[in-house]
Amino acid sequence: MLKAELKIRNLPELLTFANGEKVENIADWKKRREELLRDLQSELYGKLPEAPKDIRFETESCEETFCAGKADLKKVNITCVLENGSHTFPVYCTIPHKKAKTTFVLINFRDPVPDRYLPAEELVDNDCAVFSFCYNDVTSDDDNFSNGLAEILFPNGRTKSDDAGKIAMWAWAAMRVMDYIQTLDFIDKERIVVIGHSRLGKTALFTGAMDKRFMSAASNDSGCCGAAIIRGKTGEMLPDIYNQFSYWFCPKFKEYALENKQFSFDQHALLAALAPRKLCVASAEEDSWADPKSEYLSCVAASEVYKLYGLKGLVHENEYPKAPIALHKGEIGYHIRKGLHYFSRTDWLYYLEYYNS
Ligand code: GCU
Repeated sequence: MLKAELKIRNLPELLTFANGEKVENIADWKKRREELLRDLQSELYGKLPEAPKDIRFETESCEETFCAGKADLKKVNITCVLENGSHTFPVYCTIPHKKAKTTFVLINFRDPVPDRYLPAEELVDNDCAVFSFCYNDVTSDDDNFSNGLAEILFPNGRTKSDDAGKIAMWAWAAMRVMDYIQTLDFIDKERIVVIGHSRLGKTALFTGAMDKRFMSAASNDSGCCGAAIIRGKTGEMLPDIYNQFSYWFCPKFKEYALENKQFSFDQHALLAALAPRKLCVASAEEDSWADPKSEYLSCVAASEVYKLYGLKGLVHENEYPKAPIALHKGEIGYHIRKGLHYFSRTDWLYYLEYYNS
């Protein structure tokens, strides 16, 4: 059933180069991966900005008795020096006093910790550290490119077809948080996961695809231009996302969203770029705008690349999973829970089960 469904979607081959040559082995795939990441940037998200010329970390405050004395909550300001100026944004570090098993970089909608999408104490109790930042502190979630990082990158506005959209900028900021974590000797550098919900789930996937220092990316209800396959998608389609959120993407995206041009890739390419690292995709049963089926199919399709590595990718049955269920046996984890579009505690519990076991 899934095979037939995938056939109908008519996805571009992951294991065929743009020039028609076949990917035969891992060395070939590494080149193909570069080709896909290049296209994902030039046609959709925009070019990831260069790493800063200089970066500084300054601790503004530290509460050592956070969560009944089980953790530190530190506010650290990250200053990034670029060609045309510098930008500073805060990261909130929830660090358990016991050594953390898994560390999350959470790209969040708000600053405060805890937050409705960040159950800090529960994460501490499950041996996790969380470095969270608010995307608005990097640059605003609107088409204004005259603030924060956007203003420094594009002092004269965006002029090129592949100039970064806001998703690429928020992803870049998550990588700067990763730069900071690299300086902390008590964090296990092999177990760092970037995570986000919805638009920030799209951002988490792009971050993980572009930066191999992340052991994994987790996307919660990321939908259109996130985990979901575009071809044959239901709910939100490219014109919908473009009409409201064109600034998330590069200027070139307009041709695909409004002018009937077809991408040479589909979103399973973004997922496959994480291989052989882990990946975790989550859907909510009633989130028809995101389209759980297309999120799931994307995981199935991306598994082909994991197989090239002798791995499994998503371990699944030949049918759509029915909520609530978690498929956690492979390098691609997937869960679908009951309910609406939201980053719920239920989602976190699934992520904890996937990453900590
Ligand atoms: C809108 C948008 C989605 C996005 C979501 C969110 O619904 O259409 O693509 O994922 O906002 O970020 O909450």
